[in-house]
Amino acid sequence: MKILLSHIKELIQVRNNAPEKVSGAAMKNLPTLKNAWLLLEDERISDFGIMDGIPNFKVDQTIDCSGKIVLPTWCDSHTHIVYAGNREQEFVDRIKGRSYQEIAANGGGIINSAKKLQASSEEDLLQQSEERLIEVMHLGTGAIEIKSGYGLTLDAELKMLRVAKQLGEKYPIKVTTTFLGAHAVPPEFKDNKQGYLDHICKDMLPKVAGYQLATYVDVFCEKGYFTVADTNQLLKEAKKYNLIPKIHVNQFNAIGGVAAGVANKALSVDHLEVLNEEDIIALKGAITMPVALPSCSYFLSIPYTPGRRIIDAGLPLALASDYNPGSTPSGNMNFVVATACIKMKLTPEEAINAATINGAYAMGISDSHGSITKGKSASVIITKEIPSYGYLPYAFGSNLIDQVIINGELIA
Ligand code: NIG
Ligand code: FE
Repeated sequence: MKILLSHIKELIQVRNNAPEKVSGAAMKNLPTLKNAWLLLEDERISDFGIMDGIPNFKVDQTIDCSGKIVLPTWCDSHTHIVYAGNREQEFVDRIKGRSYQEIAANGGGIINSAKKLQASSEEDLLQQSEERLIEVMHLGTGAIEIKSGYGLTLDAELKMLRVAKQLGEKYPIKVTTTFLGAHAVPPEFKDNKQGYLDHICKDMLPKVAGYQLATYVDVFCEKGYFTVADTNQLLKEAKKYNLIPKIHVNQFNAIGGVAAGVANKALSVDHLEVLNEEDIIALKGAITMPVALPSCSYFLSIPYTPGRRIIDAGLPLALASDYNPGSTPSGNMNFVVATACIKMKLTPEEAINAATINGAYAMGISDSHGSITKGKSASVIITKEIPSYGYLPYAFGSNLIDQVIINGELIA
Protein backbone atom coordinates (compact mmCIF):
# COMPACT_ATOMS: atom_id res chain seq x y z
CA MET A 1 0.00 0.00 0.00
CA LYS A 2 1.49 3.31 -1.10
CA ILE A 3 0.14 6.53 0.38
CA LEU A 4 1.29 9.90 -0.92
CA LEU A 5 0.86 12.97 1.26
CA SER A 6 1.01 15.88 -1.16
CA HIS A 7 1.11 19.69 -0.89
CA ILE A 8 2.16 19.56 2.77
CA LYS A 9 2.41 23.14 4.03
CA GLU A 10 5.33 22.14 6.26
CA LEU A 11 6.83 18.72 6.94
CA ILE A 12 8.37 18.73 10.41
CA GLN A 13 11.34 16.91 11.94
CA VAL A 14 12.89 15.88 8.63
CA ARG A 15 16.22 14.17 9.23
CA ASN A 16 18.22 12.42 6.53
CA ASN A 17 20.61 10.92 9.02
CA ALA A 18 18.60 10.96 12.20
CA PRO A 19 20.57 11.32 15.41
CA GLU A 20 19.50 9.01 18.24
CA LYS A 21 18.71 12.09 20.37
CA VAL A 22 19.22 15.85 20.38
CA SER A 23 20.74 17.74 23.30
CA GLY A 24 21.17 21.27 24.60
CA ALA A 25 21.29 24.05 21.99
CA ALA A 26 20.68 21.53 19.17
CA MET A 27 17.15 21.09 20.52
CA LYS A 28 16.33 24.55 19.14
CA ASN A 29 16.83 23.17 15.67
CA LEU A 30 13.76 21.54 14.14
CA PRO A 31 14.48 20.77 10.48
CA THR A 32 11.49 21.16 8.15
CA LEU A 33 10.58 21.16 4.47
CA LYS A 34 8.00 23.63 3.18
CA ASN A 35 5.53 22.72 0.40
CA ALA A 36 6.54 19.09 0.65
CA TRP A 37 5.44 15.57 -0.19
CA LEU A 38 5.88 12.37 1.78
CA LEU A 39 5.58 8.84 0.43
CA LEU A 40 4.62 6.02 2.78
CA GLU A 41 5.02 2.46 1.59
CA ASP A 42 3.35 -0.17 3.77
CA GLU A 43 4.82 0.26 7.25
CA ARG A 44 7.72 2.52 6.28
CA ILE A 45 8.56 6.03 5.18
CA SER A 46 9.78 5.53 1.66
CA ASP A 47 10.74 9.03 0.48
CA PHE A 48 10.01 12.74 0.75
CA GLY A 49 10.84 15.98 -1.01
CA ILE A 50 9.49 19.33 -2.12
CA MET A 51 6.48 19.67 -4.44
CA ASP A 52 8.58 21.49 -7.00
CA GLY A 53 9.74 18.58 -9.17
CA ILE A 54 7.76 15.81 -7.45
CA PRO A 55 8.18 12.50 -9.37
CA ASN A 56 5.12 10.98 -10.99
CA PHE A 57 4.30 8.26 -8.45
CA LYS A 58 1.79 5.43 -8.91
CA VAL A 59 0.12 5.25 -5.52
CA ASP A 60 -2.92 3.63 -3.91
CA GLN A 61 -4.03 6.78 -2.13
CA THR A 62 -3.17 10.46 -2.19
CA ILE A 63 -3.94 12.73 0.74
CA ASP A 64 -3.94 16.42 -0.13
CA CYS A 65 -2.33 18.17 2.84
CA SER A 66 -2.76 21.75 1.57
CA GLY A 67 -2.54 24.19 4.47
CA LYS A 68 -1.69 21.34 6.84
CA ILE A 69 1.39 20.42 8.81
CA VAL A 70 2.74 16.87 8.96
CA LEU A 71 4.93 15.66 11.78
CA PRO A 72 6.07 12.34 13.22
CA THR A 73 3.65 10.85 15.76
CA TRP A 74 4.43 11.45 19.42
CA CYS A 75 6.62 8.95 21.25
CA ASP A 76 5.19 8.74 24.77
CA SER A 77 8.03 7.13 26.72
CA HIS A 78 6.34 6.94 30.14
CA THR A 79 2.81 5.68 30.83
CA HIS A 80 0.87 3.40 33.11
CA ILE A 81 -2.19 2.99 30.85
CA VAL A 82 -2.96 -0.56 31.95
CA TYR A 83 -5.04 0.07 35.06
CA ALA A 84 -8.46 -0.73 36.47
CA GLY A 85 -11.04 1.85 37.47
CA ASN A 86 -10.21 5.39 38.44
CA ARG A 87 -9.31 7.51 41.47
CA GLU A 88 -11.55 10.56 41.13
CA GLN A 89 -12.33 10.48 44.86
CA GLU A 90 -8.65 11.14 45.61
CA PHE A 91 -8.79 14.01 43.13
CA VAL A 92 -11.67 15.55 45.06
CA ASP A 93 -9.87 14.90 48.37
CA ARG A 94 -6.84 16.80 47.06
CA ILE A 95 -9.02 19.73 46.03
CA LYS A 96 -10.21 19.78 49.63
CA GLY A 97 -6.65 20.01 50.89
CA ARG A 98 -5.23 16.52 51.39
CA SER A 99 -1.85 15.92 49.80
CA TYR A 100 -0.92 13.13 47.39
CA GLN A 101 1.44 11.70 50.02
CA GLU A 102 -1.19 11.87 52.79
CA ILE A 103 -3.70 10.03 50.63
CA ALA A 104 -1.12 7.37 49.77
CA ALA A 105 -0.16 6.93 53.44
CA ASN A 106 -3.80 6.19 54.24
CA GLY A 107 -4.23 3.29 51.83
CA GLY A 108 -5.04 5.39 48.76
CA GLY A 109 -2.69 6.02 45.86
CA ILE A 110 -0.90 3.14 44.17
CA ILE A 111 -2.26 0.63 46.70
CA ASN A 112 -5.81 1.73 45.89
CA SER A 113 -5.18 1.04 42.17
CA ALA A 114 -3.49 -2.27 42.99
CA LYS A 115 -6.59 -3.51 44.85
CA LYS A 116 -8.78 -2.63 41.88
CA LEU A 117 -6.42 -4.25 39.40
CA GLN A 118 -5.97 -7.45 41.38
CA ALA A 119 -9.77 -7.86 41.40
CA SER A 120 -10.11 -7.34 37.62
CA SER A 121 -10.08 -10.11 35.07
CA GLU A 122 -7.49 -9.98 32.31
CA GLU A 123 -10.27 -9.47 29.75
CA ASP A 124 -11.73 -6.54 31.65
CA LEU A 125 -8.30 -4.99 32.10
CA LEU A 126 -7.59 -5.34 28.39
CA GLN A 127 -10.89 -3.75 27.49
CA GLN A 128 -10.40 -0.77 29.82
CA SER A 129 -6.81 -0.26 28.68
CA GLU A 130 -7.54 -0.48 24.98
CA GLU A 131 -10.06 2.34 25.26
CA ARG A 132 -7.21 4.51 26.55
CA LEU A 133 -4.85 3.28 23.86
CA ILE A 134 -7.32 4.03 21.07
CA GLU A 135 -7.89 7.48 22.55
CA VAL A 136 -4.19 8.36 22.56
CA MET A 137 -3.68 6.98 19.04
CA HIS A 138 -6.32 9.47 17.86
CA LEU A 139 -4.42 12.16 19.76
CA GLY A 140 -1.31 11.42 17.70
CA THR A 141 0.68 8.99 19.81
CA GLY A 142 2.37 6.42 17.58
CA ALA A 143 4.64 4.74 20.15
CA ILE A 144 4.00 4.20 23.83
CA GLU A 145 5.81 2.73 26.78
CA ILE A 146 3.56 0.89 29.26
CA LYS A 147 4.59 0.03 32.82
CA SER A 148 3.32 -2.57 35.23
CA GLY A 149 3.27 -1.59 38.91
CA TYR A 150 -0.41 -1.69 39.84
CA GLY A 151 -0.27 -5.43 40.40
CA LEU A 152 2.24 -5.72 43.25
CA THR A 153 1.74 -9.51 43.35
CA LEU A 154 3.40 -11.93 40.96
CA ASP A 155 0.12 -12.87 39.28
CA ALA A 156 -1.18 -9.33 38.95
CA GLU A 157 2.12 -7.95 37.65
CA LEU A 158 2.26 -10.68 35.01
CA LYS A 159 -1.38 -10.00 34.13
CA MET A 160 -0.62 -6.30 33.58
CA LEU A 161 2.36 -7.02 31.38
CA ARG A 162 0.46 -9.60 29.34
CA VAL A 163 -2.26 -7.02 28.71
CA ALA A 164 0.34 -4.43 27.68
CA LYS A 165 1.92 -6.91 25.30
CA GLN A 166 -1.46 -7.83 23.82
CA LEU A 167 -2.16 -4.15 23.15
CA GLY A 168 1.02 -3.96 21.10
CA GLU A 169 0.03 -7.04 19.12
CA LYS A 170 -3.54 -5.89 18.49
CA TYR A 171 -2.88 -2.29 17.39
CA PRO A 172 -0.42 -0.67 14.96
CA ILE A 173 1.06 1.55 17.70
CA LYS A 174 4.54 0.52 18.88
CA VAL A 175 4.38 -0.66 22.51
CA THR A 176 7.37 -1.16 24.79
CA THR A 177 6.91 -2.65 28.25
CA THR A 178 8.50 -1.95 31.61
CA PHE A 179 8.36 -4.02 34.79
CA LEU A 180 7.62 -1.75 37.77
CA GLY A 181 7.11 -4.25 40.56
CA ALA A 182 8.84 -1.79 42.90
CA HIS A 183 6.15 0.87 42.54
CA ALA A 184 5.02 0.68 46.20
CA VAL A 185 5.32 -1.74 49.09
CA PRO A 186 2.05 -3.73 49.19
CA PRO A 187 0.15 -4.06 52.52
CA GLU A 188 1.15 -7.75 52.87
CA PHE A 189 4.76 -6.56 53.24
CA LYS A 190 3.93 -3.39 55.19
CA ASP A 191 6.70 -3.79 57.77
CA ASN A 192 8.93 -5.92 55.60
CA LYS A 193 10.06 -3.93 52.58
CA GLN A 194 13.14 -6.13 52.18
CA GLY A 195 10.82 -9.14 52.02
CA TYR A 196 8.98 -7.53 49.11
CA LEU A 197 12.25 -6.66 47.35
CA ASP A 198 13.37 -10.28 47.78
CA HIS A 199 10.04 -11.42 46.34
CA ILE A 200 10.56 -9.15 43.32
CA CYS A 201 14.12 -10.39 42.83
CA LYS A 202 13.56 -14.09 43.46
CA ASP A 203 10.06 -14.63 42.08
CA MET A 204 8.97 -11.79 39.82
CA LEU A 205 12.10 -10.90 37.81
CA PRO A 206 12.75 -14.47 36.62
CA LYS A 207 9.13 -14.87 35.46
CA VAL A 208 8.90 -11.45 33.78
CA ALA A 209 12.14 -12.14 31.94
CA GLY A 210 11.33 -15.81 31.28
CA TYR A 211 8.04 -14.95 29.58
CA GLN A 212 9.74 -12.01 27.81
CA LEU A 213 7.11 -9.63 29.11
CA ALA A 214 9.34 -6.57 29.57
CA THR A 215 12.43 -4.92 28.10
CA TYR A 216 12.80 -2.35 30.86
CA VAL A 217 12.72 -2.25 34.65
CA ASP A 218 11.54 0.64 36.79
CA VAL A 219 11.59 1.61 40.49
CA PHE A 220 9.81 4.43 42.31
CA CYS A 221 12.90 5.85 44.04
CA GLU A 222 11.32 8.24 46.54
CA LYS A 223 10.90 8.87 50.27
CA GLY A 224 8.24 6.50 51.58
CA TYR A 225 8.68 4.15 48.60
CA PHE A 226 12.13 2.80 47.67
CA THR A 227 15.52 4.18 48.73
CA VAL A 228 18.61 4.59 46.58
CA ALA A 229 20.02 1.43 48.22
CA ASP A 230 16.81 -0.49 47.32
CA THR A 231 17.06 0.89 43.79
CA ASN A 232 20.68 -0.23 43.42
CA GLN A 233 19.85 -3.67 44.77
CA LEU A 234 16.96 -4.19 42.40
CA LEU A 235 18.67 -2.79 39.31
CA LYS A 236 21.73 -4.95 39.94
CA GLU A 237 19.51 -8.02 40.04
CA ALA A 238 17.51 -6.91 36.97
CA LYS A 239 20.75 -6.56 35.02
CA LYS A 240 21.20 -10.33 35.28
CA TYR A 241 18.05 -10.63 33.14
CA ASN A 242 19.18 -7.90 30.73
CA LEU A 243 16.37 -5.60 31.80
CA ILE A 244 17.33 -1.98 31.13
CA PRO A 245 16.52 0.59 33.85
CA LYS A 246 14.13 3.51 33.31
CA ILE A 247 13.32 4.91 36.72
CA HIS A 248 10.98 7.25 38.62
CA VAL A 249 13.16 9.74 40.52
CA ASN A 250 13.03 13.20 42.12
CA GLN A 251 9.24 13.57 41.99
CA PHE A 252 8.96 14.98 45.51
CA ASN A 253 12.49 14.72 46.94
CA ALA A 254 16.03 14.65 45.56
CA ILE A 255 17.57 11.68 47.36
CA GLY A 256 20.37 10.78 44.98
CA GLY A 257 18.29 8.67 42.61
CA VAL A 258 19.48 10.49 39.50
CA ALA A 259 23.13 9.62 40.10
CA ALA A 260 22.09 6.05 40.94
CA GLY A 261 20.17 5.85 37.67
CA VAL A 262 23.15 7.12 35.69
CA ALA A 263 25.51 4.72 37.51
CA ASN A 264 23.16 1.85 36.62
CA LYS A 265 23.14 2.98 32.97
CA ALA A 266 19.45 3.84 33.05
CA LEU A 267 18.04 4.70 29.64
CA SER A 268 15.97 7.40 31.31
CA VAL A 269 15.32 9.11 34.64
CA ASP A 270 11.77 10.37 34.82
CA HIS A 271 9.87 13.09 36.76
CA LEU A 272 12.72 15.35 38.07
CA GLU A 273 10.31 17.94 39.43
CA VAL A 274 12.84 18.52 42.22
CA LEU A 275 16.30 18.76 40.71
CA ASN A 276 19.52 19.98 42.27
CA GLU A 277 22.90 20.88 40.81
CA GLU A 278 24.43 17.47 41.61
CA ASP A 279 21.67 15.81 39.60
CA ILE A 280 22.46 17.99 36.60
CA ILE A 281 26.17 17.23 36.95
CA ALA A 282 25.42 13.50 37.20
CA LEU A 283 23.53 13.64 33.90
CA LYS A 284 26.34 15.33 31.96
CA GLY A 285 27.85 13.00 29.38
CA ALA A 286 25.55 10.17 30.45
CA ILE A 287 23.55 7.89 28.15
CA THR A 288 20.57 8.61 30.42
CA MET A 289 17.71 10.74 29.08
CA PRO A 290 16.02 13.11 31.55
CA VAL A 291 12.24 12.87 31.06
CA ALA A 292 9.74 15.54 32.15
CA LEU A 293 6.07 14.81 32.77
CA PRO A 294 4.39 18.23 32.82
CA SER A 295 0.80 16.90 32.90
CA CYS A 296 1.63 15.28 36.25
CA SER A 297 2.85 18.62 37.62
CA TYR A 298 -0.30 20.26 36.29
CA PHE A 299 -2.67 17.71 37.81
CA LEU A 300 -0.95 17.46 41.21
CA SER A 301 -0.03 21.16 41.41
CA ILE A 302 3.60 20.29 42.07
CA PRO A 303 6.62 22.08 40.55
CA TYR A 304 7.36 21.65 36.86
CA THR A 305 10.60 19.90 35.94
CA PRO A 306 13.16 22.65 35.25
CA GLY A 307 13.36 21.77 31.57
CA ARG A 308 14.84 25.11 30.61
CA ARG A 309 17.70 24.58 33.07
CA ILE A 310 18.24 21.02 31.83
CA ILE A 311 18.48 22.08 28.18
CA ASP A 312 20.58 25.16 28.99
CA ALA A 313 23.03 22.86 30.78
CA GLY A 314 23.57 21.15 27.41
CA LEU A 315 21.51 18.08 28.29
CA PRO A 316 18.81 16.39 26.24
CA LEU A 317 15.20 16.32 27.46
CA ALA A 318 12.24 14.13 26.58
CA LEU A 319 8.57 14.79 27.30
CA ALA A 320 6.06 12.08 28.19
CA SER A 321 2.52 11.94 29.56
CA ASP A 322 2.76 9.62 32.63
CA TYR A 323 -0.86 8.62 31.86
CA ASN A 324 -2.04 6.89 35.06
CA PRO A 325 -5.09 6.95 37.36
CA GLY A 326 -3.46 8.78 40.28
CA SER A 327 -1.16 11.58 39.22
CA THR A 328 -2.00 12.06 35.51
CA PRO A 329 -5.32 10.79 34.18
CA SER A 330 -4.51 12.07 30.69
CA GLY A 331 -2.43 10.73 27.83
CA ASN A 332 -2.77 13.79 25.63
CA MET A 333 0.72 14.48 24.29
CA ASN A 334 -0.51 17.66 22.56
CA PHE A 335 -1.28 19.03 26.00
CA VAL A 336 2.12 17.82 27.24
CA VAL A 337 3.90 19.70 24.44
CA ALA A 338 1.84 22.85 25.03
CA THR A 339 2.37 22.72 28.80
CA ALA A 340 6.12 22.29 28.34
CA CYS A 341 6.13 25.49 26.28
CA ILE A 342 3.80 27.43 28.56
CA LYS A 343 5.07 26.33 31.97
CA MET A 344 8.61 25.07 31.38
CA LYS A 345 9.55 27.73 28.81
CA LEU A 346 10.57 25.34 26.08
CA THR A 347 10.30 26.73 22.58
CA PRO A 348 7.95 24.85 20.21
CA GLU A 349 11.03 23.43 18.45
CA GLU A 350 12.48 22.12 21.72
CA ALA A 351 9.16 20.68 22.85
CA ILE A 352 8.55 18.90 19.53
CA ASN A 353 12.09 17.46 19.58
CA ALA A 354 11.50 16.35 23.18
CA ALA A 355 8.23 14.58 22.33
CA THR A 356 9.44 12.90 19.13
CA ILE A 357 13.12 12.01 18.65
CA ASN A 358 14.06 12.24 22.34
CA GLY A 359 10.93 10.35 23.38
CA ALA A 360 11.93 7.64 20.92
CA TYR A 361 15.40 7.52 22.52
CA ALA A 362 13.86 7.15 25.99
CA MET A 363 11.97 4.12 24.62
CA GLY A 364 15.02 2.65 22.90
CA ILE A 365 13.41 3.00 19.45
CA SER A 366 15.03 6.04 17.88
CA ASP A 367 16.27 3.86 15.00
CA SER A 368 12.66 3.37 13.88
CA HIS A 369 10.64 6.28 15.32
CA GLY A 370 10.76 9.96 16.21
CA SER A 371 11.62 11.60 12.87
CA ILE A 372 10.74 11.77 9.20
CA THR A 373 13.57 9.60 7.92
CA LYS A 374 13.60 7.07 5.09
CA GLY A 375 13.03 3.57 6.42
CA LYS A 376 11.46 4.66 9.72
CA SER A 377 7.93 3.74 10.72
CA ALA A 378 5.19 5.32 8.59
CA SER A 379 3.71 7.09 11.60
CA VAL A 380 2.63 10.69 11.14
CA ILE A 381 0.19 13.30 12.37
CA ILE A 382 -1.63 15.37 9.76
CA THR A 383 -2.92 18.56 11.36
CA LYS A 384 -5.94 20.61 10.41
CA GLU A 385 -5.19 23.76 8.43
CA ILE A 386 -3.11 25.84 10.84
CA PRO A 387 -0.82 28.86 10.40
CA SER A 388 2.39 27.25 11.70
CA TYR A 389 3.69 24.45 13.93
CA GLY A 390 3.99 26.98 16.75
CA TYR A 391 0.20 27.16 16.65
CA LEU A 392 0.03 23.61 18.07
CA PRO A 393 1.22 24.56 21.59
CA TYR A 394 -0.26 28.08 21.26
CA ALA A 395 -3.85 26.90 20.79
CA PHE A 396 -3.37 24.48 23.67
CA GLY A 397 -7.01 23.59 24.23
CA SER A 398 -7.96 22.78 20.64
CA ASN A 399 -7.73 19.46 18.91
CA LEU A 400 -5.78 20.42 15.81
CA ILE A 401 -5.29 16.89 14.50
CA ASP A 402 -7.04 15.96 11.29
CA GLN A 403 -5.68 12.46 10.67
CA VAL A 404 -3.17 10.08 12.18
CA ILE A 405 -1.30 7.34 10.34
CA ILE A 406 0.40 4.74 12.52
CA ASN A 407 2.77 2.21 11.00
CA GLY A 408 1.10 2.75 7.64
CA GLU A 409 -2.47 2.39 8.97
CA LEU A 410 -4.89 5.28 8.76
CA ILE A 411 -6.48 5.75 12.15
CA ALA A 412 -10.08 6.82 11.56
O1 NIG B 1 4.56 8.39 37.83
N1 NIG B 1 5.03 8.40 41.02
C1 NIG B 1 4.84 7.22 40.85
N2 NIG B 1 4.00 6.64 39.99
C2 NIG B 1 3.02 7.30 39.19
C3 NIG B 1 1.76 7.61 39.90
C4 NIG B 1 1.24 6.54 40.73
C5 NIG B 1 -0.15 6.71 41.21
O2 NIG B 1 -0.46 7.67 41.93
O3 NIG B 1 -0.96 5.85 40.87
C6 NIG B 1 3.64 8.55 38.60
O4 NIG B 1 3.25 9.68 38.89
FE1 FE C 1 4.96 7.32 36.25
